[in-house]
Amino acid sequence: MWDADGKEYLDLIAGISVCNIGHGHPAVIEAIQKQAEAYLHIMVYGEFVENPQVHYARFLTQHLPANLNSVFFTASGSEATEGAMKLAKRYTGRHQMISFKHSYHGSTQGALSVMGSEYWQQAFRPLLPGITQLDYNDIEALENINHQTACVIAETIQAEAGVNVPQKEWLQALRKKCDETGALLIFDEIQSGFGRNGTLWAFEQFGVVPDILLLGKALGGGMPLGAFVSDKKIMDSFTHNPVLGHINTFGGHPVSCAAGMAAMKILIEDEIIQAVQNKESQFVALLQHPKIVKVNSCGLMIAVHFDSFETNKKIIDKLIESGVFTDWFLFAAHALRIAPPLNIADEDIAFACSKIIEVLDHI
Ligand SMILES: Cc1ncc(COP(=O)(O)O)c(C=O)c1O
Repeated sequence: MWDADGKEYLDLIAGISVCNIGHGHPAVIEAIQKQAEAYLHIMVYGEFVENPQVHYARFLTQHLPANLNSVFFTASGSEATEGAMKLAKRYTGRHQMISFKHSYHGSTQGALSVMGSEYWQQAFRPLLPGITQLDYNDIEALENINHQTACVIAETIQAEAGVNVPQKEWLQALRKKCDETGALLIFDEIQSGFGRNGTLWAFEQFGVVPDILLLGKALGGGMPLGAFVSDKKIMDSFTHNPVLGHINTFGGHPVSCAAGMAAMKILIEDEIIQAVQNKESQFVALLQHPKIVKVNSCGLMIAVHFDSFETNKKIIDKLIESGVFTDWFLFAAHALRIAPPLNIADEDIAFACSKIIEVLDHI
């Protein structure tokens, strides 16, 4: 990346896990140009549907488990969360919801209501009633899920908590508890989907499939796009009383769908995801320094933890000065974010880590 003065930066955050195949990929640019020449916006629902949405929805569901066969496109990740919360209420006839501490699902009022942080919520109360927040990765806390619970919403891997990877047993117990109580399980893979964690979908690593999957960020290949994906029998509850259970004008914008589909094809055809775990190992091996408290990682979602926000902020500022672009996490301000494009070159990993170590030696 280059700033207004022409200074060069290595991008270590990819627009917060958006640009998974890097910036300006020719296949994505071509798809955008072609779609822009055809049409920008016609009519999302009603007598006609738009081709790019249908094609992308089909492509997505071809790469998802059988029960995730119906895609509702939105204009953002937050709107995907909103739509999924409404769908769970409508399908189950219940309104209570469970979310987890240190979870981020977006900034609109419904998404804010399930956010796991009093600090970020307190200025905007009252929020939605009936929401209980549990400790993530705590098996005993799952006892709070019951027959009044409409849905449980969880990030498959908690990103803004500073990359918090759950135990496989916990996610499996969560799935079981939802099955027993009839609560819908929503996985938010807005940040962790599309290969970020080393598999196309993060849930593949745990052997657990949600009832509703939230997508965003990399879904649009750099263009704004979100989606919630579910089984048609669940999604169909949006088709009556009221007839349009969720409405938007720009959800699944044709240019966003064309760009997203082109990017997802590259991700798969170029076998970019297969190299993610190796690249993660390179980062982890090179990030050794007494000032580093710990490194949490899952694929190319990496959090380098320091002793305080003050230390971290100094490091971030120095890194930006020396041409490496990074930032911190919403609920872990003491941790430095490393979430580069998934096709980052090995020499760029070596360069980034050498800059980080150099900065640590001098603060
Ligand atoms: C896990 C997660 N969920 C939801 C969102 C909200 O997406 P958006 O910013 O597109 O509304 C984000 C955005 O950072 C996110 O990281």
